[in-house]
Amino acid sequence: MKIDVTFSATNLDELQLRDKNVVVIDVLRSSTTVVTALANGAREIIPVSNIESAVKISASLLGDVTVRGGERNGKMIQGFNLGNSPLEYTEGAVKGKSIIYCTTNGSVAMNKCRHARNMAVAAFINISKVAEFMAQVNDEFLIICAGNTTVSHGFSMEDAVCAGMLIHKVQEEQQQQVEFTDTSTAALSLYRTHGRSILKMLKNTDHGKYLASIGFDEDLKACAKVDSVPVLPMLVGTSVKLPKEDQRAPDAEIPAVATPNS
Ligand code: MLT
Repeated sequence: MKIDVTFSATNLDELQLRDKNVVVIDVLRSSTTVVTALANGAREIIPVSNIESAVKISASLLGDVTVRGGERNGKMIQGFNLGNSPLEYTEGAVKGKSIIYCTTNGSVAMNKCRHARNMAVAAFINISKVAEFMAQVNDEFLIICAGNTTVSHGFSMEDAVCAGMLIHKVQEEQQQQVEFTDTSTAALSLYRTHGRSILKMLKNTDHGKYLASIGFDEDLKACAKVDSVPVLPMLVGTSVKLPKEDQRAPDAEIPAVATPNS
């Protein structure tokens, strides 16, 4: 299976992605947050490209089941309910909710994939689950690193290392024959060089240092926990959801207390 990588989503046109198999990576923090929110029971994530769209869409949805989440410069957008720290997307905050989601790069990249044949969201926290999915599809894939337009000229080391780890898992653990391009070769090399300690790597990235400087160092730890949230967010129409088998079971009935004669 051929795996290609793009290190930035900025120049991607949504029509280029029509009918393609794609994986979107934005480790710090959009894809980690989307995985976490859905694993904690969010009904869906609706990724949008700008704040105006977020306001318009949320106005058309029922208020009690809709929240707005996202960031600008890493901080919560004024008038939103949630920022973009995965630690905010607890069960209490998101269970059963539709989340209108607007971030600088991650939600834009996800939104561009709405005509893709398959679109999965990957981070370190669900990476083996995504590798398994790619092996099941066993067809050509484009891994889209959302990148980081606020610093480092668009390139994001954390996204590239995550893409390399994903390719490594598809090749080594899923035993797939991978056909490489220059960018997927580069991503695998970056993983082999920088992937020994994910948290250390995140702390040394431009965006990791920026997030730590504005008080989000705990997020780096959450984003570094490989396979800690093994679910597979997929694009369904214009929303990102979990397949039935990954959805939280409804609150289990509390078993009736056995009575002495039962
Ligand atoms: C992004 O979408 O560019 C990032 O996730 C922004 C952030 O959360 O700091």
